[in-house]
Amino acid sequence: MALLPILTLPDPILRDVAARVERVDGEVRRLADDMLATMYDAPGIGLAAPQVGISRRLIVLDVSDDDGAARPLVMINPEILHLGDGRRSYEEGCLSIPDVKVEIERPSTLTVAYLDRDGVRQQLDADGLLATAIQHEIDHLDGRLIIDFLSRLKRDIIVRRFRKSART
Ligand code: NI
Repeated sequence: MALLPILTLPDPILRDVAARVERVDGEVRRLADDMLATMYDAPGIGLAAPQVGISRRLIVLDVSDDDGAARPLVMINPEILHLGDGRRSYEEGCLSIPDVKVEIERPSTLTVAYLDRDGVRQQLDADGLLATAIQHEIDHLDGRLIIDFLSRLKRDIIVRRFRKSART
């Protein structure tokens, strides 16, 4: 497995709407495995393919805590079927926006459908941190980032800071 470079703000790929994965083949499985390795190495609890420069609808997640066994999830073409009425607030970070945390309130429960690593259709009910992480990662597939939940002024300050450090 290979570690992949993680793109950071203001890379334009992060703003693209990712394309559906047409076929779950060896190449897609290898990408999923490399993304998991990259996520664990970072370390992070989720990673979306656009963050490694691949504009395809593929996300990986693992929200198990440090002392528990790894519980890797691979979701291809994930689609949220239902969002619950409850809300959950969480201070979210993003591997593509290092050192920035944004308090975001999202639905606390959801049902998501996706293809797994073997191309088999799955449906999952999620709550807590997993529900938050799934929404965060699917946002990436639509070019949406945590800074989009901030006021325009705060967002612009962060973007400008990253643009400046990308140039130096
Ligand atoms: Ni992120």
